[in-house]
Amino acid sequence: MDQRLERIKLTALHERIVSAEQAASWIKDGMAVGLSGFTRAGDAKAVPNALAKRMQEEPFQIDVYTGASLGSGIDGRFAQAGIVRKRAPYQSDPLMRSAINSGDVQFVDHHLSQTAEWIRGGVAGPLDFAIIEALGITQDGLLIPTTSVGNSMVFAHHAKQIIIEINTAQPLELEGLHDCYAPQAIGSRQPIPLVSPRDRIGTKGIPVDPSKVKGIVWTNQADSPSPIEPPDAETDVMAGHLLAFLRREVQAGRLDKNLPPLQSGVGSVANAVLHGLLDSEFEGLELYSEVLQDAVFDLLDSGKALFASASAITLSQPYMERIYQDFGRYRERLVLRPQEISNHPEIIRRLGLISINTALEFDLYGNVNSTHIAGTKMMNGIGGSGDFGRNAQLAIFVTKSIAKNGRISCVVPFASHIDHTEHDVDVLVTEHGFADIRNLAPRERAERILANCVHPEYRPQLRDYFDRAIARGGHTPHVLDEALSWHAKYMRDGTMLKKSP
Ligand code: COA
Repeated sequence: MDQRLERIKLTALHERIVSAEQAASWIKDGMAVGLSGFTRAGDAKAVPNALAKRMQEEPFQIDVYTGASLGSGIDGRFAQAGIVRKRAPYQSDPLMRSAINSGDVQFVDHHLSQTAEWIRGGVAGPLDFAIIEALGITQDGLLIPTTSVGNSMVFAHHAKQIIIEINTAQPLELEGLHDCYAPQAIGSRQPIPLVSPRDRIGTKGIPVDPSKVKGIVWTNQADSPSPIEPPDAETDVMAGHLLAFLRREVQAGRLDKNLPPLQSGVGSVANAVLHGLLDSEFEGLELYSEVLQDAVFDLLDSGKALFASASAITLSQPYMERIYQDFGRYRERLVLRPQEISNHPEIIRRLGLISINTALEFDLYGNVNSTHIAGTKMMNGIGGSGDFGRNAQLAIFVTKSIAKNGRISCVVPFASHIDHTEHDVDVLVTEHGFADIRNLAPRERAERILANCVHPEYRPQLRDYFDRAIARGGHTPHVLDEALSWHAKYMRDGTMLKKSP
C-alpha cells in the first residue's frame, strides 16, 4: 500500500508533507519548542537534526522542552551548535551536561509530572512548535505515538503549530499500546479514574487539531539503544538486600505477598536491582513505572510480571532487537501513558507503589542526592524520582556504597545537594545491606545507616564524624564546618578517604 495512505489516514494532511530542512526553517530565533522523546525513546529525530545543521548558516537560539532525555545524539548536537537557551526538564547527554555546567544552557531541572501543568498553566512556554514522532495519523485525527508518550499530548494541545515526524522504522505493532488522557483544568478537575496499572482511561492516540499541523516529515531511524550496563556481582548483592527487605515486610504482614505495583528508575543500578526479582519467590508482579528497561521484559518473559504501565520503553541494543522483532506478544501486557499520568502523585499514592530509584549519594540522616556531583555539577536531573519518592508507599533508594574505585563514598556526612529530603526516604540500599529508616529519629537513622550501608573503608571516619557531631548536640547533630569537607577533600586530593593515623 502507498505509505502515505497506510500511515496518514487523514488524507487532507497529505499535502502538508515537507522535508525536514523545510520544517526546520520555520523555527526562528527566540521560539520555544516542545519535542517528543522520553529516555531516548520516541524522540523526534529528523527535524531536530536539521535544526542543528541550520545553525551553521544562521545563528539562533531556542528554548527546548521534552518529555525527558533525548537519544539520537540530538542533545549533544544542540549543545555543540549552541542553539539551546533554556532546556527542561531532563537530559542525559555528556555534551549537553557540560553546556549546562558551564552556564551556556539554562537548565530547569524539575519533576517530570510537572512540565505538563506548567505548560497548561502558562508557567513554561508558550510553545511555538510541537515536534512529535508518530507511527501515523488516524482518519479521525489521532496521532499515534511510538515508543514513548512523554509530554507529547500537552505539547500538541498547547503549541501554536505542530510538526509530525512519521517514523517508518518504528514497528506498526505499537499501535494500540498507548492510553492518552489529560486531566481537566485545575479548579474543575475530577479524580483521575485509574485504580489499577491495567486501566485504560483515554484514547489510543493524541487528538490533534488538523488545522494546527503545519508539516509532516518522514523519518526512518530506530531509537538510540540504552547504554545501561548489565547486572554485576555488586548489583546482584544489592538486589539480594532489597529482596530480604521485601520478604521481611511480607512476613510482618505489612506487604501482600504479590507486592503492590513496582516502579523502577533509570540507569544500570535500578535495572540490575529489578532484575534480581527474576530469581525470587515473588509472583504476579505489576509495574507502574515511568520507563520500562530491559529487566521488565525478562520479568514479563518469565511470567513473574503480568503487566507493566509506563511512559516509555528504553532498551539496550540486544533487547531492542529481540523485543521489537515480535512486539505483538507483549502488547496486551503493556500500556504507555503521558508522563503526567505515569508519574501522577494522586495515582502513585492510590496504588501504594514500591518505588526503587538510584541515588548518587545519601547522608547520615537519609537525605538523598540524585542529581549533583559534589553539590554543583548537574548529572542528568531529578527526573521522576521525586514524583515517585514523595508519593510512594515505600520510597527505596539504591546506590553502590563507593564510586570511582573507592575514591568517593556515596554515604557522606551531609548530602552535597538534596533532591529527596529525609522526610521522603524510607529505605536505603547499598551492597552492604539495607537501612529501613522509617519511624526513626535522626540519631537512630544515622546508627542504622552506619551499621548497614557504609563501605567498611569509610565506616571509621563516618563514625568519627557522627560521634563528634553528637558531642555538639542537636536534634540532627552536625559539625557544620566539616559537613561538606569530604567533598572538598575529593576536589582537592582526588579522594574522600582520610589516611589512617
Ligand atoms: N559522586 C560522584 N560521581 C558518582 C557518585 C558520587 N557520589 N556516584 C556515582 N557516580 C558516578 C559513577 O562513577 C558513574 O560515573 P561514570 O559515568 O563516569 O562511570 C556515574 O556517576 C553513573 O553511576 P552508575 O553507578 O553507573 O549509576 P546509574 O547508571 O545507575 O545512574 C544516576 C545513576 C543517579 C545518575 C541515575 O539513576 C539518575 O540520573 N537518576 C536521577 C533521575 C531518576 O532517578 N529518575 C528515576 C525516575 S524513573
